[in-house]
Amino acid sequence: MSASLVVSDLERRFASSRGDVLALQGMNFSVSQNEFVCLVGPSGCGKSTLLRLIAGLLQPTHGQVRFLDWPSEPLCAMVFQVPGLFPWLSVADNVAFGLETQGVCQAQRRRQAKDMLGRMGLADFAGHYPRELSGGMLQRAAIARALVTGPDVLLMDEPFRALDAQTRLLMQEDMLRLCSERPQTVLFVTHDIEEAILLGDRVLVMSSRPGRILAEVSVPLGRPRDLTGRSHPEIEELRWQIWRMLEPAARLSQA
Ligand SMILES: Nc1ncnc2c1ncn2[C@@H]1O[C@H](COP(=O)(O)OP(=O)(O)O)[C@@H](O)[C@H]1O
Ligand SMILES: [Mg+2]
Repeated sequence: MSASLVVSDLERRFASSRGDVLALQGMNFSVSQNEFVCLVGPSGCGKSTLLRLIAGLLQPTHGQVRFLDWPSEPLCAMVFQVPGLFPWLSVADNVAFGLETQGVCQAQRRRQAKDMLGRMGLADFAGHYPRELSGGMLQRAAIARALVTGPDVLLMDEPFRALDAQTRLLMQEDMLRLCSERPQTVLFVTHDIEEAILLGDRVLVMSSRPGRILAEVSVPLGRPRDLTGRSHPEIEELRWQIWRMLEPAARLSQA
């Protein structure tokens, strides 16, 4: 049997001074090893909470997250909307940082960080400091920092949201290239329906809070793929299908 991540009947409730907030409830889905799954849903529906539950940064109030049939204890890495690099470390040292906690020796850390920066097109910026990089470069460094640890599951929380439209296209191309070079299990949260379809093998559509899965949509694009996938007529139809599911919640949030 192949490895998978299985989320069953997941619930997370938060206590707050204004009463309990039920962020997620009755959430069920699974992700297979090397599958790229995108998650779209209204703002506040529990997407970030879900990723934190999967990463083990939060505990569920009910239900469970299970990693089935992985050869060893699976490692998760996260990429956030804000790159969050340490300003006092060079780009290479930022990327190497996660390896230090894994007990990798310094020479090996340097080598792996350099290789990973090369894969992300940042070889010439290894010695630069975060303040010297553009928004897109910072986010590429953040992805390098996540990937260098060799995570079994990469959790990405709206990683391109803060970038301008053109940089976002370049980042989407980078993600497609990275995953065709080396398959990777990815759970990618985005508010952009087109991005979800373009990157994902499957798109999970979430309800408004308490978040649960409203629908799972398979993307009929093969791999390797590139950005031209977006002009495929079937993709246009999928875009509308997903938008029709999200529209009521989007309208309510404007009311
Ligand atoms: N630590 C927390 N304490 C209280 N409420 C929280 C906490 N984290 C998230 N929430 C609430 O849970 C709901 C889902 O939040 P979040 O997962 O950030 O949504 P999304 O990422 O989909 O926008 C929101 O109503 C949010 O206010
Ligand atoms: Mg969020």
